[in-house]
Amino acid sequence: MFNKIGVVGGGNIGGVLVQELFKRNLAKTVALMDVKEPDLAKGKCLDIAEGSPIIGADVKYDGGRDYDVLKGSEIVINTAGVPRTKRPDGTIPSREELLATNLKITDMVAEGIKKYCPKAIIISIANPLDAIVYRLYQQLKPPKQKLMGMAGALDSSRYRHFVAYEAGVSVENVEAMVLGGHGDTMVPVRSCCRVAGMPVEKFLDEEKLGAIETRTRKAGGEVVGLLGVGSAFVSPSWAALDMVEAIVFDKKKIIPSCVLLEGEYGIDGLFIGVPALLGKDGVEKIIEVDLTDDEKEALKKSAAAVQKTVDEVKAVA
Ligand code: LAC
Repeated sequence: MFNKIGVVGGGNIGGVLVQELFKRNLAKTVALMDVKEPDLAKGKCLDIAEGSPIIGADVKYDGGRDYDVLKGSEIVINTAGVPRTKRPDGTIPSREELLATNLKITDMVAEGIKKYCPKAIIISIANPLDAIVYRLYQQLKPPKQKLMGMAGALDSSRYRHFVAYEAGVSVENVEAMVLGGHGDTMVPVRSCCRVAGMPVEKFLDEEKLGAIETRTRKAGGEVVGLLGVGSAFVSPSWAALDMVEAIVFDKKKIIPSCVLLEGEYGIDGLFIGVPALLGKDGVEKIIEVDLTDDEKEALKKSAAAVQKTVDEVKAVA
């Protein structure tokens, strides 16, 4: 158990995160910060704390509108930013279209972290994922082990769910990874997908697999389209918590995460999704998977797409 875990942003994801941090007893104190009046963060914390005797969670909370509630956090989960929402004409914006708004919010988040918990391990969830993580890196210059984005954990879980459903097997039987950027160019790695240790092709034909991979790439948008307002929030929270638990319990768990590459996969100076070994120090190791030529090419394309958004970030002082 950690002493303190902080969450920035009290929206749908922030709310589920605090609930689960309590329920799973992952820290002695959970902090939630949100600027929303009159005091959304404190209200959400109080609601959860008032139910804590029922679930047996001896957790304290710090909720408020100022970043000072994060003071002393050992892990900070950043969810601050606007989510995607279906437009009146029924179309769905890309995550990249959130950049201008969420960049400004991220700069404030970075300032708050710098002031109150500069040594914290940071897991960022705000979109556009890879570019926002890059911005946090630009502003905070933390050791690269201490900064990561949550995307691969969610995209891989979506891939696993679709495979399990189509193959008619337990989700527990499916192992899969999605690498690259958290956008339409993400790379579901078929060559790493296993059902009870067997190649996925034994269970699903080319047509089904192709459809599953396309659906995985667009899965975030599919949920936005169905919800109408806002984006997925339960599965992203659980995915981030998988990363938090790997760190809190020093699990050395390999989870696709958005991390800084310095030559791995032939990519340099970019945060992008690859399998990372997570433990008490954060990103303890980057794992290089043997990809097929097609997968290598797809990852290269995805890196180029991320680079394009990162270049926009770099252009903003
Ligand atoms: C999604 C958002 C959270 O993929 O990026 O649902």
